[in-house]
Amino acid sequence: MATDLEQELAELLEVETFPPSDEFRSAASISDDAVREEAERDPAAWWLEQARALDWFAQPSQSLDDTDPPFYKWFADGTLNASVNCLDRHVDAGLGDRVAFHWRGEEGEERDITYAQLLADVQRFANALKSRGIGRGDVVGIFLPMIPEVVVAMLACARIGAPHNVVFGGFSPESVKERMDFSDARALVTVDGARRKGRTAPIKAAVDEIGVDVETIFVVRHTGIDCPMGERDVFYDEALAAADAVCEPEQLPAEHPLYILYSSGSTAKPKGILHTTGGYLTHVAWTHRYVFDLKAPSDVYWCSADVGWVTGHSYIVYGPLANGCTSVMYEGAPDYPDKDIWWELCERYGVTIFYTAPTAIRACMKWGEQYPGRHDLSALRLLGTVGEPINPKAWLWYHKVIGGERCPIVDTWWQTETGAIMITTLPGVQQTKPGSAGTPLPAIAARVVDDSGEEVPRDTQGLLTLTRPWPGMLRTLYKDDDRFVATYWEKFGPQTYFVGDAARRDDDGYLWVIGRVDDVLNVSGHRMSTAEIESAIVSHPKVAEAAVIGQTDEDTGQSVAAFVTLEGELEGSDELVAEIRDHVAARIGKLARPKRIIWSDDLPKTRSGKIMRRLLRDIAEGRELGDVTTLRDPDVMAKLEGRVKELQ
Ligand code: WTA
Repeated sequence: MATDLEQELAELLEVETFPPSDEFRSAASISDDAVREEAERDPAAWWLEQARALDWFAQPSQSLDDTDPPFYKWFADGTLNASVNCLDRHVDAGLGDRVAFHWRGEEGEERDITYAQLLADVQRFANALKSRGIGRGDVVGIFLPMIPEVVVAMLACARIGAPHNVVFGGFSPESVKERMDFSDARALVTVDGARRKGRTAPIKAAVDEIGVDVETIFVVRHTGIDCPMGERDVFYDEALAAADAVCEPEQLPAEHPLYILYSSGSTAKPKGILHTTGGYLTHVAWTHRYVFDLKAPSDVYWCSADVGWVTGHSYIVYGPLANGCTSVMYEGAPDYPDKDIWWELCERYGVTIFYTAPTAIRACMKWGEQYPGRHDLSALRLLGTVGEPINPKAWLWYHKVIGGERCPIVDTWWQTETGAIMITTLPGVQQTKPGSAGTPLPAIAARVVDDSGEEVPRDTQGLLTLTRPWPGMLRTLYKDDDRFVATYWEKFGPQTYFVGDAARRDDDGYLWVIGRVDDVLNVSGHRMSTAEIESAIVSHPKVAEAAVIGQTDEDTGQSVAAFVTLEGELEGSDELVAEIRDHVAARIGKLARPKRIIWSDDLPKTRSGKIMRRLLRDIAEGRELGDVTTLRDPDVMAKLEGRVKELQ
């Protein structure tokens, strides 16, 4: 028998659009479409006006410089500093005592960090970096868990003009090493150990073991576990204590690199996505303020992402701090110590705006409404999602169980490359449709096109493109302009950014993003490259060849499935499955481990030797096989199909 909740959700499924309540609309910062019309009249001029909300040493007189596409520049003659915008200006305005982060540790520890405290630590750590010879343009790696020091490290880099390169804490030390090498990093900020669900993993020791090639390693003492310290190593707290208290911020040109963030692409080598200062900060600050309808100081905001992903960069660090907002930062997992921890924190800190990923919502839905039911969530007034398309059922659960049917949900579409939100609904203006991200934001232009770049008719699936430069856009791939051009700007020319997502637009102009069209997987909202996972699997001595696909998964959106051919006469076994999974975890990180391994004597390839992943997806998901006529050896498919059936 259906429960009451299931019954109510089924009824809601019939409802296709959800307008904001009158109450929400009347209090919203933007409550009509005038902003869109204004932006559309002269998008570059409109962005320049938004840029004035930042503090500049020298105000920019120019907006977009599009003389050398696709190498666009924004606000190029302005100078500023991101850390000043995130900290000094609030402290100077008398808001030093405002809490920047209510930090909560995994074991229940609490720390409230004010803007003044953050500024003090950032200045000292900036000086510590300088004392180790780090300055303008030097890359600094950061490999830290969700602790306040990660914010200090990022902003200290920004203060002295040293681009940071944050590696998500779930990645392996080998990935850290690779990313430090690729980016020529001079220093690394890491931690003695990291906690996860009651266990402590030694991080510094693992980093040492792999031999990360940097001149200095700063080590935050977080868990207190023993960690080896060499000559180049220094404890973060000691470096802070020894450093001067005042560090004048560098006056940086708007186009000075703020950070590099490696993201998965269609080859095994991750892409070093480069963001600069003025345009990025303008875009994240604007979107954070208006998409989330932020009203500092009355709002308490929580983005549950990890700071190691772009969502954390833009919507835990730069956007919220530029807007002087109070956030929650949580170290642990959503189900530790129990599955109600998120809701406990929402109640405890009076969270009003909550931003998370569909995969997390699906997990909560599975755990059941009794967990949120234990807590008072009535302070919530706006919800957001990011990272992957949300299925209407999860949307409705979020709307009903978490949002109490009163909170608009902003489904925000964007990418590491776009820097900030591009497509969503303005919550006080537009109605929402479960499963659709909405429309391009003011001054943003998107088209859904066919392979030749022609716009497809409404309600037809095509390729999503962005047809106008925007301030938060990536400027290049670190030291690889050619790959930057080839990946994003070759298909449709230097005016049209190739997104890599399939989408359709409905009659109201709402975009429905379907998923990636390239060999990039989206596992729990995390981008993974099939090629990168394949190359990790193939580096196992017993493996001859591997093909990785994303398989539709109820919980994680997609999961990793690998077709593996073993060396010589070797037979697949459960032990070998475990070995290969561990091997991938060590090479890339746990989140890249294949959920399913299918042994195969051969893989379906075209005559030119390209693996046909489309067919593998059909097999793995039990679909009728598509066209097999272009295969070199069509028999391969019959054998594979037999194998997969045996396993089911
Ligand atoms: C997907 C994360 C549907 C999309 C900020 C995109 C989404 C990729 C949405 C970028 C959404 C992100 N609806 N799909 N609201 N948001 N995506 O770089 O495929 O980790 O290209 O950035 O995630 O992932 P990335």
